[in-house]
Amino acid sequence: MYARRAERLAPTLPPSAVTGTIGFDSGHAFPGVLPDLTREADVALTRYRAETLQYAPRAGLPDLREWIASYTTGVSVENILVTNGAKHALELVCRVLLDEYDPIIVTAPTYFSAIPIVRSFGATFIDVPQDASGLDVSALAAILGRLPRPPKFIYNVPDYHNPTGVTMPIERRQALIALAERYQIMLVEDSPYREVRFEGTPVPSLKSLGGDRVILLGTFAKLMAPGLRVGWAAAPAPFIARMAQLKTDAGSCPLTQRVILEFLAAGRLPQHIERVQATYRANRDHMMAALARELPEATYDRPHGGYYIWLTLPDGVSGDAVAACAAQQGVSIIAGSKFYANPGPTHHVRLAFSHASHEEIDDGVRRVAEAVRAVRQ
Ligand SMILES: Cc1ncc(COP(=O)(O)O)c(C=O)c1O
Repeated sequence: MYARRAERLAPTLPPSAVTGTIGFDSGHAFPGVLPDLTREADVALTRYRAETLQYAPRAGLPDLREWIASYTTGVSVENILVTNGAKHALELVCRVLLDEYDPIIVTAPTYFSAIPIVRSFGATFIDVPQDASGLDVSALAAILGRLPRPPKFIYNVPDYHNPTGVTMPIERRQALIALAERYQIMLVEDSPYREVRFEGTPVPSLKSLGGDRVILLGTFAKLMAPGLRVGWAAAPAPFIARMAQLKTDAGSCPLTQRVILEFLAAGRLPQHIERVQATYRANRDHMMAALARELPEATYDRPHGGYYIWLTLPDGVSGDAVAACAAQQGVSIIAGSKFYANPGPTHHVRLAFSHASHEEIDDGVRRVAEAVRAVRQ
């Protein structure tokens, strides 16, 4: 009955979070940091009613495309497509680029929600290892030299990587772009956490360094609020035109686009980003302190931004078993194995510090530590 792309998928959805569970699993925003958009929604529904309750232009509201173009180095409005979030943008990129059995490059580990999106197009994943500076470009060069045909694209999260939290320094970015140029491969830069920065200076984006070689995926999910479901792609104009034609939703919701524009026009974004950074920095510090106290036998790289800590568990401890045990203790975390497109190491778990309160972080980390000890016995 099912098409091949559906047959490959799991027959059930993972259970939604149980009430009372401490959520270290998904990249949900901290509730206290969600902006009050009452005024913006009011203006959008009154002054802009004819626009916001009508079908929108397929590529997005022109004003929003303009804003995104000015926010992104080296692009103009015809390079921007507004989408229903960054994942939707990735799906459209796949629609434009992928045929069945096409190879694509991902880091091992990679963003776990990207895996089923790409897999549904029947593509095959080629893993490239990562280190503390992100995707290992020398290892990628060796892999590309061996492949019978070049991959369709390289998918990468260069800023505060999901799940590992690492950021690519500029030299590594330049080397990656040079390699992509040499083999004429598109680079897909997925960078939702770029502004969720706790320390250090921002590194130039792959897009600003690589121009038309790079398709940048952006989102208001981490800039403002995930529930808005507004993101974008920045790419060469002929690519954007094709993505727009394959976008079957008659344009993303104009009401939310206008709410965002009103927020931006009121000049609220810079202050909001400061709050976001302060909130998640404090959450990160709180989780690191709890881990040092409760689980010193696990190791991790200190994330300089983003939402996640990627824990390496003591030898022989399975992340899947720890996640299952933690769930029974009322804490949801994601087993590291879920972040590998091909079977990979199993001794990791990802902890999101974005959503929980400080009390929940203390309590949750204690229960995760108990789960690790229970699994170890
Ligand atoms: C790497 C990465 N890309 C994309 C997204 C989601 O973007 P959106 O909510 O705009 O679809 C996330 C959210 O967790 C992410 O971590």
